[in-house]
Amino acid sequence: MENRNSSATIVFTPSGIRGARKKKGTTILEAAQKFSVDLNSICGARGRCSKCQVELTFGEFNKLNIRSKETSVSERNETELIYRTKFHLSEERRLGCQTKILGDLVVDVPEDSQIHKQIIKKETNLRDFSLNTSVKAFYVQVSEPQLDSLESDFERLKISLKDDWNIQGVTCSVRILKDLQEKLRRGNWGITVLLYYKENTVPEIVDIHSGYSEIPAFGVAIDLGSTSIAATLCDLNSGKIVGSMGIMNPQIRYGEDVMSRVSYCMMEEKGLATLNNSIIQGINELTRKIAEKHEIKLDSVFEIVFVANPIMHHLLLGIDPKELGQAPFPLALSDSLTIKSKDIGIILNPESYVYTVPCIGGHVGADAASVLIAEQPQKLKDTTTLLIDIGTNAEILLARGEEIFACSCPTGPALEGGTNFSRSKSSTWRY
Ligand code: FES
Repeated sequence: MENRNSSATIVFTPSGIRGARKKKGTTILEAAQKFSVDLNSICGARGRCSKCQVELTFGEFNKLNIRSKETSVSERNETELIYRTKFHLSEERRLGCQTKILGDLVVDVPEDSQIHKQIIKKETNLRDFSLNTSVKAFYVQVSEPQLDSLESDFERLKISLKDDWNIQGVTCSVRILKDLQEKLRRGNWGITVLLYYKENTVPEIVDIHSGYSEIPAFGVAIDLGSTSIAATLCDLNSGKIVGSMGIMNPQIRYGEDVMSRVSYCMMEEKGLATLNNSIIQGINELTRKIAEKHEIKLDSVFEIVFVANPIMHHLLLGIDPKELGQAPFPLALSDSLTIKSKDIGIILNPESYVYTVPCIGGHVGADAASVLIAEQPQKLKDTTTLLIDIGTNAEILLARGEEIFACSCPTGPALEGGTNFSRSKSSTWRY
């Protein structure tokens, strides 16, 4: 039988506020109010406003020294069941004012339940560069089919691309092929094709429009940090930056730093899948929001480029990062990777690609590599340059001419707007 007098610990994310209660059975909202956690409520806990929604996180949290279990909360009561069935309260959400704490618990307060939402500002400054994007549009006039010729529509399209643009061989998916014949005829045999260029292979047709068309084509550059995710939306036709946006990394509820997340993967049976789903959902939410803000269809986004530290890079791709948690810290992959976005669950144009920038070494990732690409310290002859990127991890690069040294170290999430979860016992709230 449950001992209602024993103590339970509750940790709120993303704030990192931690508290211990002497009596079990009070609600999550009551605990949040007691510990000054930013959880909304406008109906006075009467179960009317649904502003107090929270998401529970289960698993072993070594760093927090607690195990958060499904049995650590009361079952859904009548009010919550009504919200579930009539007002579509999602499976993973609970009403904080109706859910009682029965044991140690990690609770995430989603952005829409926070009164004072965190603003993640990630502006982008553009340098001079020459535009050479991975997608390019070409208009061609394709010859009409003849009774005495066996060439298919796709064959004749390839011949036109070779004759008019010197493009040797192209591929396309069945999805594009399904539309090809109708679009050729509708455009009176004129067609605009959008090609995606990958290394070491022929270009791929990723979109087709009847006749001459200026196909809108956008790309998203993502800096996938341990604490925050920054997205920059770019027009691939003009090279202009359309806008930038950031969100907190939703994985923060599973651990504030990358080593806590490696530990979560190792301790939990479905830890890797949970962290992978969490980051993919976060990226999909961010790309949807930035596209909506600038009135751009996600269908017009053909490429998404990622820089990340090695552990975030592996979690994005669903690769177990446990080897990065112990010496000699080998990466599963250090080269760049180009794969279809849909293969890892990213929702953009169905033909779009993910490109991951190469990592440098065990704990020096693509984020550090991209700093080198942007700053090019090797061009500053006879000058010693120190480049420091302080996030939840810090990467330090020391360059003198062609000789460049790189290293990294953990710094904590304070400079990214996070909070240290691992407060000492003496600073734990109690009531
Ligand atoms: S506080 Fe209004 S429904 Fe929970």
